[in-house]
Amino acid sequence: MASSILDKIDKDKLPKHIAVIMDGNGRWAKERFGRNRMFGHAKGVKAVRETTEACAELGIPYLTLYAFSTENWGRPVEEVGALMDLLIKTIQVETKQLYENNIRLNAIGNIESLPKKCYDGLIEAMNKTKDNQHMTLTLALSYSARWEITEATKRIAQDVQSGKLEVDSINEQLINNYLSTWNIPDPDLLIRTSGEQRISNYLLWQIAYSELYFTPKYWPEFNKEEFYKAIYDYQQRERRYGKVLQ
Ligand code: FPP
Repeated sequence: MASSILDKIDKDKLPKHIAVIMDGNGRWAKERFGRNRMFGHAKGVKAVRETTEACAELGIPYLTLYAFSTENWGRPVEEVGALMDLLIKTIQVETKQLYENNIRLNAIGNIESLPKKCYDGLIEAMNKTKDNQHMTLTLALSYSARWEITEATKRIAQDVQSGKLEVDSINEQLINNYLSTWNIPDPDLLIRTSGEQRISNYLLWQIAYSELYFTPKYWPEFNKEEFYKAIYDYQQRERRYGKVLQ
């Protein structure tokens, strides 16, 4: 069997949380096949499956995927509708696998703004897998970091106004507790595919000290081997969190 970069990965120094910006579905479909954007999104599901599987196999407890941003609502209605249909279908098909592999499905973002069918399917899948312990797969849906921080700020202000909270008790930990990722550690590694080197309003608070990894591969081309490459690259870095290592 061909050797894999997997053999070089130090299993004792794995990241606990990997966040991914899945990008390049549309360009992949057009450049490689002259097909429409939905062809790319549909093929992107395989990369979602491979990445989730790789995380579960390695024992990385948290994976967070940027599946639909607040800004994505501005795409043509046909594409938004088709993406929502793909999401519903994928959740329906994959929930059994998630359940059997002890994976909890979680969502962050303004999920109430999703079409009812999508929202209902998501809630059902999250309920079914809520006690699973091996890994948490979080989908960022109708998500943007500025939206999340705005919502957290409103709720903090309400709690101060109602007397539940003292202004002096507002600190980083408290703000963290008001974010949608309150029960998830900050990402150690953020991966973005497609060669773009931007954060695009993703987990802005949470990635303060994350390592960033950009690959030119389009998302439908991303697979386990590409994922291992990102982890290996991450393991070669020295994380100092602003301090000096002795
Ligand atoms: C970015 O590619 C991708 C998205 C906006 C959607 C990602 C969706 C999937 C991978 C399919 C389903 C996902 C789940 C979790 C079931 P792009 O369209 O922005 O590509 P481009 O930059 O080349 O136009």
